[in-house]
Amino acid sequence: MMRGTRTRSPSRPGRPAASRSSASRDDVLHGFALVRATLDEAEILTICTAPGVRRRGVGFAIVTAACAYCGGLGIQRLFLEVSVENAPALALYARAGFAVIGRRAGYYQPQDGGPPIDALVLALTLADQPLRISKR
Ligand SMILES: CC(C)(COP(=O)(O)OP(=O)(O)OC[C@H]1O[C@@H](n2cnc3c(N)ncnc32)[C@H](O)[C@@H]1OP(=O)(O)O)[C@@H](O)C(=O)NCCC(=O)NCCS
Repeated sequence: MMRGTRTRSPSRPGRPAASRSSASRDDVLHGFALVRATLDEAEILTICTAPGVRRRGVGFAIVTAACAYCGGLGIQRLFLEVSVENAPALALYARAGFAVIGRRAGYYQPQDGGPPIDALVLALTLADQPLRISKR
């Protein structure tokens, strides 16, 4: 049985909180995402699925779980950066509803010394849910 796991590191007021969303089957980790939340915005820092289970919906399940988790926290917008050459990730994010909102020229410097690669900045507006910071 597959299960999603989401954990959140301790945070202090005004400081970003990091959380991870992972997918495992029979206690074998098949993928994870790292998300950093600050007030009503969050950033997907990375997402990865094991090569042996790709194209089986694991990545989409993790993104969906991360979005649900962020929505539960009152996060309004999710951001991420992805290489223009990363077709699988671009397709995954497009399927999850992310839209391109910017481009960072030469953002990635390949370790093989090749020319810098642009990054696209993607964003997803989550369903309207008020920020869960009580003003009582
Ligand atoms: C990107 C990554 C997380 C996708 O994980 P995954 O488990 O294969 O994704 P899913 O099976 O849930 O695919 C969901 C959708 O993404 C798209 N997609 C995923 N891999 C794709 C590929 N190789 N080619 C084209 N589309 C792809 C498809 O639309 C797919 O839906 P479909 O299978 O119904 O057509 C995975 O390839 C990975 O870990 N890559 C290396 C790390 C990386 O590049 N991370 C992103 C950093 S920004």
